[in-house]
Amino acid sequence: AAIEKGNYRHYMQKEIFEQPTVVAQTLSSYIRPLEQQVALPQMDFDLADVKRITIVACGTSFYAGLVAKYWFEQFARVPVDIDVASEFRYRDPVLEAGGLALFISQSGETADTLAALRHAKAEGQKIAVVVNVPTSSMAREADLLLPTHAGPEIGVASTKAFTCQLAVLAAFAANLAVKKGRMTRAEEQEVVQHLTEAPAALNAALAHDDDIAAMAHLIAPARDVLYLGRGPDFPLALEGALKLKEISYIHAEGYASGEMKHGPIALIDEAVPVIVIAPSGPLFEKTVSNMHEVMARGGKVVLISDADGIAEAGEGCMATIEMPKVHPLIAPLVYAVPVQLLAYHVACAKGTDVDQPRNLAKSVTVE
Ligand code: G6P
Repeated sequence: AAIEKGNYRHYMQKEIFEQPTVVAQTLSSYIRPLEQQVALPQMDFDLADVKRITIVACGTSFYAGLVAKYWFEQFARVPVDIDVASEFRYRDPVLEAGGLALFISQSGETADTLAALRHAKAEGQKIAVVVNVPTSSMAREADLLLPTHAGPEIGVASTKAFTCQLAVLAAFAANLAVKKGRMTRAEEQEVVQHLTEAPAALNAALAHDDDIAAMAHLIAPARDVLYLGRGPDFPLALEGALKLKEISYIHAEGYASGEMKHGPIALIDEAVPVIVIAPSGPLFEKTVSNMHEVMARGGKVVLISDADGIAEAGEGCMATIEMPKVHPLIAPLVYAVPVQLLAYHVACAKGTDVDQPRNLAKSVTVE
């Protein structure tokens, strides 16, 4: 059956709003609710033997991989390498025995990612694939197939596939940690608990759609926009900048908050909005001090945080976007929503073709 937009103006908007449902759908195949355990599909190798993980992907899927690197290292203490697929083969990566290569792709057909998969396979790596199209080439060639259940994604700029990828990757990292003896049963239950809270938190984030629409005019006239984040939320800054570039054609850069003073701070003036992604939590104070460096130079800040974070640091910001207060594990999923919505509403304000942005393709099947 044809996929309809229903009451939505664009597929992208519809797909953003589907996230609570499709993330719940995806999680339901990785969580055993009664046992409060994470569970993965069958595989013909033992995850306990994995000594190193190499993550390869493109675009938004690459940013999901960047978040996952934090989780694999933090939970399972397994070292992670990560590359964009177009760079991977050409650096002749060192792929030793006991390595797992992990490919992340909405379509399962991106040419560079597929070529990287085949290279890693030929080098003797076990192949894990997080993919949204179960009949895709990557799905067929995987040793461990980890499907996302986002349903068909039509908008060229990926949204719901990303949050579903994060849900799968969090469950995967927890399962690896359990198998490695790095996570206790109680800790696993906590992870399951936090993941289970994600759909409602995504709904709460979506409830701020009107606020975000109302402030899009603050960003639409900008020529350049800077996004800052730290730790597992740093990739969200990259993803926010990518979304804005893709559909509104505004130049945007994502930066690790602490790295800003090594370059981008030179760009700061009242014409460059700075979007700060800062859930309250262990890294909050550090990010806020970077935000103050921006403000001291006349920079106009949009702070995306929870009520506590906004109460503490919202003063002097051009605008704030309030998110529900969530555990740091699920913050990358929840904070994906405001960066998607901001890009969406800015693009609408500019009148661009949201679902079919110029020069971009949904699936890039050439290298
Ligand atoms: C294209 C799309 C992006 C997507 C990227 C990777 O650039 O426009 O939205 O993130 O390809 O695609 P994949 O299907 O491999 O996730």
